[in-house]
Amino acid sequence: MSRPTPMEPRDRLIVALDVSGVREAEAVVETLGDTVSFYKIGYQLAFERGLPLASALVNAGKRVFLDMKLHDIGNTVARAIENIVRMGVTFVTVHAYPQTMRAAVEAKSGSDLGILAVTVLTSYDDADLVEAGYSVRVEQLVASRAALARDIGVDGLVCSAEEAAPLRRIVGGGMWLVTPGIRPAGAARGDQKRVATPARAIAAGADFLVVGRPILQAFDPRAAADAIVEEIAAAPAR
Ligand code: C5P
Repeated sequence: MSRPTPMEPRDRLIVALDVSGVREAEAVVETLGDTVSFYKIGYQLAFERGLPLASALVNAGKRVFLDMKLHDIGNTVARAIENIVRMGVTFVTVHAYPQTMRAAVEAKSGSDLGILAVTVLTSYDDADLVEAGYSVRVEQLVASRAALARDIGVDGLVCSAEEAAPLRRIVGGGMWLVTPGIRPAGAARGDQKRVATPARAIAAGADFLVVGRPILQAFDPRAAADAIVEEIAAAPAR
C-alpha cells in the first residue's frame, strides 16, 4: 500500500473506539454515521469481541486500524499478519524491532494491509529506557527505529505531532504518519502530555489523526467529529 496524496479530509480522521464493549462501540459507530469512515480498535475492545467487530466494520464499508502492537518471533508475527490480511483491515501496528518489522512486511506482501511501526511508546522517557536496558535517549531511538522501518519497507509510523516534522525528514514522503494526542482547542488533555490541534498536526506532516476522547466524550460526538474534519480541511496543505 503506497501513500496516496492528497486524501479527502474526512478520510484522514481515525476515531479510536476506546470503549468497554462491542455494544457501546456499535452505538458510537451508529452515532457518527457517515461523518467517520475509519476506526481504531485497540487492546481494550479487542478482548471484548472487538475482532469480530473489526470484520463487521470492514464488511460495512468502514476502514479499520487494528492497534495490536505486535511483537514476537518472526514466524509468529508472520502467521498473525497473514490472518490479519484476510480480515481486510487497513492498518495494523507492530513494535519497531527489526525481526518483527521484517516478518510483518514480508507476510503482508502483495496485500493492501498497511504495517505501522510504533518506534518508542510515548509513555517512555529516557529514564524508562535506562530501566529497560537501553543506553540511548528516546529521541535517538525514535530516529534510528524510524530509519530502520523505512529501510525495511514498513508503510508508516505512529508518532506524536511534535515528532511528525523531524520524522518526515527522516522517512521522506513514502510513509504514512499517523498521529494520536490530538486535542481541538479548548478540549481536555486527559492523560496526554504532548498534544496538538488537528490543524497543527496536519501542518507538521501527519497523514491521519487518531482521536478518541475529544469525540467519544463530546456532548455531540458527530458535531465534534465534523468540526475536526473541517479543521483538517482548512489546515495548510503540506
Ligand atoms: O482519547 P485520546 O484521543 O487520547 O486517544 C488516543 C488514542 O491513541 C488511544 O487509543 C491511545 O491508545 C492511542 N495512542 C496514543 N499514543 C500513542 C499511541 C497510541 O494515545 N503513542
